[in-house]
Amino acid sequence: MGGEVMFECKKVCHLPLETVNSTNTWVKENLCRLDPDQITCVTASEQTAGRGRFSRPWLSPKGENLYTSFYFTTPTNFPHVKNLGQVLSLSASALFQDLKIQTQIKWPNDLLLDKKKVGGILCETTPVGNKIGVILGIGINLNMTSELLGKIDQPATSLAQVSGREWNINAFLDRLIGQFLEDLKLLEREGFFPFQKRFNFFLSSKGENITCIDGGTRFEGRCLEVDEEGRLLLMLHNGKIHPVSAGEIL
Ligand code: BTN
Repeated sequence: MGGEVMFECKKVCHLPLETVNSTNTWVKENLCRLDPDQITCVTASEQTAGRGRFSRPWLSPKGENLYTSFYFTTPTNFPHVKNLGQVLSLSASALFQDLKIQTQIKWPNDLLLDKKKVGGILCETTPVGNKIGVILGIGINLNMTSELLGKIDQPATSLAQVSGREWNINAFLDRLIGQFLEDLKLLEREGFFPFQKRFNFFLSSKGENITCIDGGTRFEGRCLEVDEEGRLLLMLHNGKIHPVSAGEIL
């Protein structure tokens, strides 16, 4: 990586916005206004076209939840771009743990609370000069009410539903930024290896039979753990271990 420092000694520049289509889309449309040598954190109070993985919608009512996109660049040979979403899911999980709320991570980076989705991460990349521009969006249902949660096409919950109290979005964001910056520095220094154990602690479906889509192909097997690269290891019915590197658990 040519000795280039990506995250060490850097600060996060917070850019709060009101209503946007999607913070990820906003970053893509405003790339030329953002400093590629900084880490920028774009937040919105509401998204009118929030997006999830696989082009699913992300319900984003005004003032209820956290909608954030981190933007930064990495050299093209940075080997851990594929782990950035997993690392951010661990940063958020650490925060929940500090709040004595036990979340799980559904591989690769969905945040679950009581087996229901409480947060999701959308990682997108785009070329920026001779670098990779990373747009890492995270949505966390902090104060969403049961009425709106019921409109989501999969079992979903919010921190408020589980804890019975309202949460301050900016205070949560400040802590997330601090934790994520520390985790980025660790990823830069030591790679995914120090995160592997943490990830396996939070991993949901461990030991269960699951169905996965990996690069368009369907696999069924027992969910074991993630390896040192963050791939999900599946024990297939024929006893072989299949590492899932891109895709999702159905
Ligand atoms: C998923 O679980 O499918 C990923 C959801 C990601 C949602 C966040 S909210 C902030 C950022 N802007 C978006 O449009 N999506 C991400």
